[in-house]
Amino acid sequence: MSEMRIDRRAAMGLLAGAAGSAAIIGGAAKQGAGAAMSVTVVPGEAIGTIKPALYSQFAEHIGGVIYDGIWVGPDSKIANVRGIRKDIIDHVKRIGRVVVRWPGGCFADSYHWRDGIGPVAKRPRRFGRWREETEPNTFGTREFIDFCRLCEVEPYLAANVGGGTQVEFQNWVEYCNAPAGRTTLADDRVMNGDPDPFKVRYWGVGNESWGCGGKFTPEDYCTEFRKFTEWVPEYGVPLYLIAAGPNGKDPDWTRRFFKKWADGSRAPISGWAPHYYCGTTGHALKFSTDQWFEMFKKALVMEPLLTEQWSIMGEYDREHKIKFIVDEWGAWHPPGTEINGRHLYEQMGCLRDALVAALTLDIFNRHADKIDMANIAQLVNNIQSLFLADGDKFVTTPNFHVFEMYRAHHGGKSVRIDVQAPLIPYSDRGVASQCLRIAGSASIKGQTLTLTLVNTHPAEPAEVDLRIKGMAGSGVSHVALTHRDLSAHNTFERPDTVVPKSLPFAAKGETLRCVLPPASVNRFEIRLGAV
Ligand code: AHR
Repeated sequence: MSEMRIDRRAAMGLLAGAAGSAAIIGGAAKQGAGAAMSVTVVPGEAIGTIKPALYSQFAEHIGGVIYDGIWVGPDSKIANVRGIRKDIIDHVKRIGRVVVRWPGGCFADSYHWRDGIGPVAKRPRRFGRWREETEPNTFGTREFIDFCRLCEVEPYLAANVGGGTQVEFQNWVEYCNAPAGRTTLADDRVMNGDPDPFKVRYWGVGNESWGCGGKFTPEDYCTEFRKFTEWVPEYGVPLYLIAAGPNGKDPDWTRRFFKKWADGSRAPISGWAPHYYCGTTGHALKFSTDQWFEMFKKALVMEPLLTEQWSIMGEYDREHKIKFIVDEWGAWHPPGTEINGRHLYEQMGCLRDALVAALTLDIFNRHADKIDMANIAQLVNNIQSLFLADGDKFVTTPNFHVFEMYRAHHGGKSVRIDVQAPLIPYSDRGVASQCLRIAGSASIKGQTLTLTLVNTHPAEPAEVDLRIKGMAGSGVSHVALTHRDLSAHNTFERPDTVVPKSLPFAAKGETLRCVLPPASVNRFEIRLGAV
């Protein structure tokens, strides 16, 4: 892969014209030019519990995600457990008890689950939707559940609304969850080797129903949703039903769907799922300083998306029983960095993507009261993946390291932070714009405070005074993910180019002084005590 180095002097020149700073959401900047940077954690202002599911994944039958990425087959020379790549199992376990969504994506709306059960040799080969590659159905429901059990994650199945029927959906729930002996479908599962029910809780009812999932109007999709969710069998598993939200921020889709939903029978919706990809105008690895900031500015759109959608949902669901799910998100770059031409939408993830991941996860943490789940697209070999795999080769991307670093937040109580830092001016495709210099989130578990902070400045470290309102902090540990080359990435030959490193932390006086390296993702763990 060709690498690009940002000219640090040019980046500093860009900053010379910094026009001070402004107030931003998420508890960030409210200061004037030249103000000292600070972060104040407010333990008394709890937001909500950070569910591990905010760190969830997505695995679709597309390109190299399932075949090659996850599934290598039991007879492969590549290390595997019952056909599933062992490297994937070992590494997914390291990101915690998250959820994995399957089989799509757009693929889900042409997938018939019966094609993927029973003896593999008898499973039909079908039109594969993406690039019309033949879908062998070697990897079906049983293999996916096995994958989830091996990785210790929870399954999320996306049902076919665009090309399926409600009966097909209900049968799938029954096949997965009915106890052995209860129905013929449960017996079929037993015959196929699985006496224990799969106990699948998360079910998506359609994917991008405004687009590849059927090109419905919001009203028509609402009708379909009602139909599909009427009388779904539970078998003791409280189902979490997810409706397809808008493309990005689109308020019209949400308002019209919920208006129809509220006017008639209110079908059971647990989660509302918009999709948001922050595309780039450049290349995955070759970008200018302006494009570096442009990427972050786009990633940060996730926050207004969330708050705006939440407020529309609240017009119809005043108690906010329906939560937020972002079941597809990520930085999506144009083609050009695939490691295998068969892997559609594969891209090389670099340090810039790691910062996008961290900025986004921090947003989810800051809105832990609203979000139940978020699934980055996709787990392996696709878009903002955590892993790249090709034959017997496997490597973790910088995104993986962010997910592993942020695992410390799982189950923590998210608390408000105030960030004071200047905004950084840049040119967004010719238009003067500004990007956050620092953003982050904090959570508390027992006596431990976990604080994650991103410094977007490509060339300058950020010296940040850390205050913890009403409490004292000690025993600070600091881990940072960074590199002097902004497009640094991990390759099969050099897998440890971008990996987190522990940094020394010298506490000074009453205020803790954190030094964030340029272009870095940082995690601080701090022991809390009385002042
Ligand atoms: O993640 C790739 C594709 O992007 C998904 O199939 C679809 O839902 C989205 O448009």
